[in-house]
Amino acid sequence: MKRLGLGILGSGKGSNCRAILESIRSGVLLAEPRVVISDVLNAPILEIAREFSVPNAYLPPGQFRTRLEPNTEAELVQMLRDAEVELVVLAGFMRVLKSPMLQAFPRRIVNIHPSLLPKFPGLEAWKQALDAGETMTGCTVHYVDEKIDHGDIIAQRNVPILPNDSAETLHSRIQIAEHELYPAAIAKICREGDQRP
Ligand code: GRF
Repeated sequence: MKRLGLGILGSGKGSNCRAILESIRSGVLLAEPRVVISDVLNAPILEIAREFSVPNAYLPPGQFRTRLEPNTEAELVQMLRDAEVELVVLAGFMRVLKSPMLQAFPRRIVNIHPSLLPKFPGLEAWKQALDAGETMTGCTVHYVDEKIDHGDIIAQRNVPILPNDSAETLHSRIQIAEHELYPAAIAKICREGDQRP
């Protein structure tokens, strides 16, 4: 079977990136990690890429806080194309992607979000669920469209909220679920292609 070429984008600690690379290394996920790119200089996710001998790059994001400058986003498209990336995997990438990326990779960009979407899009979704008094939350892998934390859902996993949970304990439990769900969802795309809802 042909291995899908992955381009992983992230801004932070990269624990989901690690889970994906471990799943590839162990032969469970039949994909090829082609490049890891971060908008944050010295982000741990770049260190993880080096640990797994995956090509990696820092992309200076420009002047905006929550998105890339259009030129920079066009540069990102080119970097991903040069690396022959077929599926773009957002793993804690803290910028909203706009038309250059969305048009270059239609239904070829996936994201993981720490809630059961459509509930609690946005930042600190686990805290939103806790503050809302929910007893169940989880994580969602979805295709990326022009809206934030929105797009067809590929896979979800429930995570219970326990009576004594703090934001930290709940977030850790969600991340454990994410580390199983994300490689499994990517594996499904690799096997079956586009996941129609
Ligand atoms: C994850 O919790 C994910 O749901 C959210 O960003 C976080 C990234 O964590 N989109 P990590 O960098 O993979 O550890």
